[in-house]
Amino acid sequence: MPAAIRLVETPAAAFAEDVRAGLSKPQKELPCEYFYDDLGSALFEAITLLPEYGLTRADQRLVKRLAPKLPASYSVVAELGSGSGTKTRWILEALRPSAYFPIDISTAALARCQAELAPFAAVRPICSRYLDGLREVVQCRPRGTRLLLLFLGSTIGNFDVARRDEFLAEVRSLLSDGDGLLIGFDLVKPADMMIAAYDDPGGITAAFNLNLLARINRELGANFQLRNFAHEARYLAHHQRIEMHLRSRVDQCVEVPGAGVTCMLRRGETIWTESSHKVHLDQIPDIAGAFVFQRVWVDPEWPFAECLWTVDSAVLPA
Ligand code: AVJ
Repeated sequence: MPAAIRLVETPAAAFAEDVRAGLSKPQKELPCEYFYDDLGSALFEAITLLPEYGLTRADQRLVKRLAPKLPASYSVVAELGSGSGTKTRWILEALRPSAYFPIDISTAALARCQAELAPFAAVRPICSRYLDGLREVVQCRPRGTRLLLLFLGSTIGNFDVARRDEFLAEVRSLLSDGDGLLIGFDLVKPADMMIAAYDDPGGITAAFNLNLLARINRELGANFQLRNFAHEARYLAHHQRIEMHLRSRVDQCVEVPGAGVTCMLRRGETIWTESSHKVHLDQIPDIAGAFVFQRVWVDPEWPFAECLWTVDSAVLPA
């Protein structure tokens, strides 16, 4: 029988509060974690198939390549984000851990992950935000085990620099001596290549971006007219990030009853929905902070780096 999905908090209330706070800022913004309702997740899946979006395929090639090289001593695996069955499967097949803890705010994603990966490990899904979920994992992990935490797909790129450093320090403090973190970074590449990856001509990424407003309509009773917004992706070289925005085509007033907010938008004004930071390979040691750098794998086709960091200075077996 599959393990019940553990619910650490109720993300529904947090959604309304985050929408209210974001739309009340001078530069309006919405947190990108809310892209992923059922429709948004399906649209993201479609993005991963776009020829312009090489990121996911690079991540997959790298995980397939590195999985057999992981130290066999990791007997518990946890993952921030429930991951794709394919990618995580290679890791579980290589390590054969006693337990696998996927951590995600989407119960649908967790259920899918559980169905796909149950043959390869005891799947123990945790429905919560990343750090709360990780706290839960460290409380119930068996004593004396080594944990490998996965943070793949360059999700870390969504954090701004200050929050990224804070987040990684917090992750490290929750891990124990001998534990590892496998983390993926999308690397800086030519600007036109990066922009095309976030603004495909078929409009799949535009639909993904606009769905955030549709979700607010569905779940918080808002009246966003999606046709009054244009998808926009820009690369800010000094911040090393792609930003996605929704630009208001007209002066408009939107009611969001479920969040208790009225949102006035001028023509040309934007709602900032996502940042996707890119790094240079030589910046990674600095980002690792107190983690001990063990190895990096880089995809030759789409510049992307997968890193294995550990919490102590243990040397890996060759
Ligand atoms: C899932 C956060 C890695 O930033 O590239 C894809 C999300 N946004 N297209 C990314 C995304 C627009 C993606 N991450």
